[in-house]
Amino acid sequence: MSYNTILVDDAQPITTVTINRPNKLNALNTETIKELHAAFSNLQKDKDVKVIILTGSGEKAFVAGADISEFADFSVKEGKKLAAKGQKLLFDFIENLSKPVIAAVNGFALGGGLELAMSCHFRIASDNAKMGLPEVSLGVIPGYGGTQRLPQLVGKGRAMELIMTAGMISAEQANTYGLVNHVVTQEELLPFCEKIANKISNNSTVAISYAIKAVNAGFMNTVNGYEQEINSFGACFGTDDFTEGTTAFLEKRKADFPGS
Ligand code: COA
Repeated sequence: MSYNTILVDDAQPITTVTINRPNKLNALNTETIKELHAAFSNLQKDKDVKVIILTGSGEKAFVAGADISEFADFSVKEGKKLAAKGQKLLFDFIENLSKPVIAAVNGFALGGGLELAMSCHFRIASDNAKMGLPEVSLGVIPGYGGTQRLPQLVGKGRAMELIMTAGMISAEQANTYGLVNHVVTQEELLPFCEKIANKISNNSTVAISYAIKAVNAGFMNTVNGYEQEINSFGACFGTDDFTEGTTAFLEKRKADFPGS
């Protein structure tokens, strides 16, 4: 499938999705959000894909936010719809994807860009990256989950300060905050992410999908995380991956997971 605003490489089992609007610092417009949704839906269904890396094109930005030119004249109703649709199609969708998604934050991750990185399962940044939620400087608030996911990741006080000041933090500061897991040079960023993705891809894809579900459940008001963990744990016992994983251990060999 071909896209106008993103690139999806064919490499499997690790696939890289690149947001490709470098002249607009990869700002998220409606088309990009739709295309990302389509790409992630396809990758989720593709049995050969085990881990997805999400990054931005060029050396300057991961994503510099939602495309301000698209919503500058929106009404209250349109604003609400923009946030609701974006959350459903992209941000919640990625967070709940059954396959691991790593954000390779290669530059500015601002507003919707940081919200996108935060909806990924974890983040690795290059040392030139800068992160922030500058929405209140535009007279609006984060609308793609930023008021929820930032406090989850860095704590309420730090999130409040970042949101209220509309300021940016460096990759190092983000690392100290626990917003990103590692900081490497820009050159090392994708190889480093691929190395971690490779490690993940040796494990049971089915068990990983259950783990994502159980961890996410702990951050939902409507589900009990411990109950979800019990259910997911139990469900693992009915999978071929579990039979293979435990048999391989007992036979003192490396597991070769069938992914079912
Ligand atoms: N929406 C739409 N266009 C954007 C954008 C966004 N969020 N962020 C950057 N762009 C565009 C600029 O308008 C510019 O386009 P142009 O060349 O057609 O004028 C291009 O990307 C390059 O950006 P520019 O501002 O010239 O780069 P810079 O290096 O001087 O500044 C930033 C970089 C990230 C500091 C600056 O672009 C910025 O503040 N962007 C908006 C960040 C933001 O508020 N995001 C939250 C949105 S809710």
